[in-house]
Amino acid sequence: MAGACLLGVPVLGGDEVVDEFPPSEIQLINGLGSVGPPIKRQQLFDRYKERGYEFAPVIHPSAVVAADVVLGEGSQVMAGVILQAGSSIGVNAIINTRASVDHDCTIQKHVHIAPGVTISGGVIVGESSHIGTGATVIQGITIGKRAIVAAGAVVTKEVPDYAKVRGVPAREF
Ligand SMILES: CC(C)(COP(=O)(O)OP(=O)(O)OC[C@H]1O[C@@H](n2cnc3c(N)ncnc32)[C@H](O)[C@@H]1OP(=O)(O)O)[C@@H](O)C(=O)NCCC(=O)NCCS
Repeated sequence: MAGACLLGVPVLGGDEVVDEFPPSEIQLINGLGSVGPPIKRQQLFDRYKERGYEFAPVIHPSAVVAADVVLGEGSQVMAGVILQAGSSIGVNAIINTRASVDHDCTIQKHVHIAPGVTISGGVIVGESSHIGTGATVIQGITIGKRAIVAAGAVVTKEVPDYAKVRGVPAREF
């Protein structure tokens, strides 16, 4: 892969190449996705942070991001996303294609909001949780840490830490 070009950006090599550059010279972009708890993506992030590297945020030009939205280090906002006023996106979180996060939400670190998810206003999503493709979360709900919301679920009640929920309305399974 080294020597190739991806979208006009030269490919230098694998992870080992990072060691050739001191943290002061480069910023990293986490290329790992996540299905289920985003643990591998989180571990990669933590490993390089311990060594002093910084991660750049990535925001697709088609995303609509309110002026006061706070984006954590290395957060990734994909095509067609809408982030409304008063919301914050934690470090290393992904807001995936065409998802929307309404006003005053807190999306904590390492969360994955999968494609097409609708998060209503005032929702808190705890760290390292995964909200599956096309799920809907009604307003004011708190989702705990390391929880999994199945694709297509409609969340109408609090989701405890580490819980896995599915269906309409969403129930633990
Ligand atoms: C919920 C999920 C994580 C699977 O969890 P799991 O514990 O591995 O569950 P299993 O696949 O073993 O399925 C267990 C049961 O749940 C059902 N199930 C799985 N996913 C479901 C969903 N999204 N909605 C409703 N039921 C679902 C299965 O049909 C199965 O039912 P059964 O016991 O009657 O046969 C997965 O199906 C899912 O929805 N992942 C999200 C995918 C996603 O967001 N991708 C984005 C990539 S960018």
